[in-house]
Amino acid sequence: MQVLAGSASKPFATALAADMAAPLVDADIRRFPDGEAYVRVLGDVRGTDLAIVQATTPDAHLVEMLLLADAAREAGARRLTAVVPYLGYARQDRAFAPGEAVSSRATLRALASGFDRLVTVDPHKPDVLRFFGDADAATAVPQLAAELARWGIDLVLAPDKGARDRAEAAARLAGVPVDHMEKTRLSATEVRMAAKELDVRGRRVAIVDDLIASGGTMATAALQLKAQGATQVYAACTHGVFTDDAVPRLLGSGIDRLLATDTLPHRPGCHTVSAAPAVAGLLRAQIPPRL
Ligand code: R5P
Repeated sequence: MQVLAGSASKPFATALAADMAAPLVDADIRRFPDGEAYVRVLGDVRGTDLAIVQATTPDAHLVEMLLLADAAREAGARRLTAVVPYLGYARQDRAFAPGEAVSSRATLRALASGFDRLVTVDPHKPDVLRFFGDADAATAVPQLAAELARWGIDLVLAPDKGARDRAEAAARLAGVPVDHMEKTRLSATEVRMAAKELDVRGRRVAIVDDLIASGGTMATAALQLKAQGATQVYAACTHGVFTDDAVPRLLGSGIDRLLATDTLPHRPGCHTVSAAPAVAGLLRAQIPPRL
């Protein structure tokens, strides 16, 4: 396999290629003054099994990914794998109101028009992968759990019941108990969030979620956990989307440390572990045996 880096995911592609001992293919990727993408595959990809690595957010990166597939196919690549460290639009898996686009379906169908298979990391709704077809998800939870264990956490919390499976896996790997948080509305303006069963007093708590965007979920949880006596609150996620000033805001809202993987660019103030070994493991397991 050879690896080609899209402009959104160069460090991730480099880590992936190193882990797989696979060559990196050169490409010229630029933007025209009007913002449109120009891509040209420079390396020899004839007959290769080529992984093109690109997070598909913001939207321009999705278009660049489609152009890279077109260029690589024309240049003779035999099999194209879209390695999408962060899969944009994975949260809209259905029309919640009549007339809405099912954005995950639209974007995954577009990717399926250019790629033979797709590998991503911890998609918000794994079910959306059916819109692509031959697609798999790796998980970075072991990498997050190993780091959290090094930080000496006492328990893992899911921010809500829906995120419990991921938190359970992290807790099992870190060797600590798990619980999820429940919201109780106290008044029109007040919400109480607390662990459903466990007492957080005097404990170092890690909240584990698939992604942090505005940071609103984590900040609310952290403030409440601190008020309930948690000594340290860590927020961990696979995808650090971090809109606007989410990182400083979180660090000023009771979160003592932030942890994310490298599926999206590194943000100062946030500790990072690499999800590339998880993707490499999945790709290696899928390489057909030589006859
Ligand atoms: C929601 O379903 C996700 O798992 C995250 O909990 C959510 O998207 C985080 O968003 P924010 O950081 O804006 O609260």
